[in-house]
Amino acid sequence: MKIKYEVKKIKDIKADVVSSVTFEDHAPAKMQWLNTLFKGILDTLIETNDFKGKANSTILSYLGPDNRSKRLLVIGLGNSKEVTLESLRKTYAAAAKKLNAMKFTSVGFEVPDLAYIKTVTNASHYDIMQAICEGVFLTQYSPKKYYTKNDFVPFNEIIFFTDSPKYTREAQEAVKDAKVICDAAIVARELENEPSNFMTPDKFAEYVKKSSIKAGYQVTVYDEKKIAQLNMGGVLNVGKGSINPPRFLILQYFGSNKSEKPIVLVGKGVTFDSGGISIKPAAGMDAMKMDMGGAAAVVGAFEAVARLKYKLNLIGLIPAVENMPDAGAYKPGDVIKSYSGTTIEIDNTDSEGRLILADALDYAANYKPKAVIDICTLTGASIICFGHLLAGLMGNDKELIKRIFAAGERTYERVWELPLYDEYDKLMKSEIADIKNTGPARQAGTIMGGIFLKKFVQDKYPWAHLDIASVAFSLGESTEEYHTAGATGYGVRLFVELLKTYSH
Ligand code: BES
Ligand code: ZN
Ligand code: ZN
Repeated sequence: MKIKYEVKKIKDIKADVVSSVTFEDHAPAKMQWLNTLFKGILDTLIETNDFKGKANSTILSYLGPDNRSKRLLVIGLGNSKEVTLESLRKTYAAAAKKLNAMKFTSVGFEVPDLAYIKTVTNASHYDIMQAICEGVFLTQYSPKKYYTKNDFVPFNEIIFFTDSPKYTREAQEAVKDAKVICDAAIVARELENEPSNFMTPDKFAEYVKKSSIKAGYQVTVYDEKKIAQLNMGGVLNVGKGSINPPRFLILQYFGSNKSEKPIVLVGKGVTFDSGGISIKPAAGMDAMKMDMGGAAAVVGAFEAVARLKYKLNLIGLIPAVENMPDAGAYKPGDVIKSYSGTTIEIDNTDSEGRLILADALDYAANYKPKAVIDICTLTGASIICFGHLLAGLMGNDKELIKRIFAAGERTYERVWELPLYDEYDKLMKSEIADIKNTGPARQAGTIMGGIFLKKFVQDKYPWAHLDIASVAFSLGESTEEYHTAGATGYGVRLFVELLKTYSH
């Protein structure tokens, strides 16, 4: 895919289709201007007033024979007073999807007046350009990999153009960085959408090894023997019921002095969650191939951070397992021991995510980290709580929580904090072990997930927990313009934005 940012006039762009943007309140004037420029091709459209410049609306026209591009797409940006980074993301995504559907492969996107948008949004020229690019780049993926005839054709040439030479340097930087970040988000989507017969813990580890070489970070993979030697009882027990053995991945990126404390990202990597012996109902079980969405977000974040060469140290911990109910499976009533020796009574084998995360959070303390953030598709209750709009955020450190919240607002991968009050602790008490792996049914399910994890973190390091079960996967009804069917890649853009604030 060739991507350019050019200071050029619309007439000088040569592509399958060239676009022009207009706010709703500037639409009549802009249409007149285009009509004059292109010698009356918009006469009928102006007369019918069919295109009003509303957000996410577009209209396609054909240009005369003496034009370098044969087609013109006018894109509506909505009310100029109400423009936001998210409205730009959505508008450009809607336009890009329309052009993909018509199989155009070389496209020119006009860049709106960045200085004006800055006055409304308070965002930098760089951030505005990044949002525009995200709208376009995040749509250039389709999960149709297994169609024998895949009819999705991504763009092969994208030209962002403006006739203003101002802010070219920031805008070009933003285009370059946005491509890296969106590619990483798409990697996460690909991993999540991959069927679990192709994406076992071992295959996941193989993928990450290749990714690390290409992107420039290191990875160490522990197999089931090493996991047993280390007494990672959570990973070992959850993995016991599958013929596909577990893996524990350690990703490392050193962008700063080795003595600097790292940030640790922990991702839940359940490549398929059948529920185990506490088996899930059939309806919807197919979606549980995405139960490694947290792990995928960690891998995506590493790819982007390594390519962008952020100046910080980053560790990724990914316990990868398949949760299955065979004769060797762990069972309700069992007592298991985590890496640090904490004993856990298994109440429900479908609460497997927190068991593998317990080992990883215990292990994270070995790095004396600056902060630890875990990300996981942990509870169906987060969908009850937030619908598909937000992820749940919990933790033990106000400053870290604030920082993640702010990154969520900027990227629109939004989060909302839930409390981890100590009064909840007693709901997870066990008569026979240090803790039980579930609380009472239908009570604060998402919070109970956080309460369980808190037991392993205590105050060993600043910690935040992101429950992304609500946002990792869309079954259609909640698809934003820049999303594609299935996995959203949620967490990659959030992490990269957050980690940028630690880069120095
Ligand atoms: N992987 C699921 C959570 C999930 C549900 C993710 C829906 C995405 C969409 C998790 O392992 C699980 O099964 N959690 C249980 C916990 C319960 C048994 C306390 C749940 O949410 O029902
Ligand atoms: Zn489960
Ligand atoms: Zn799960």
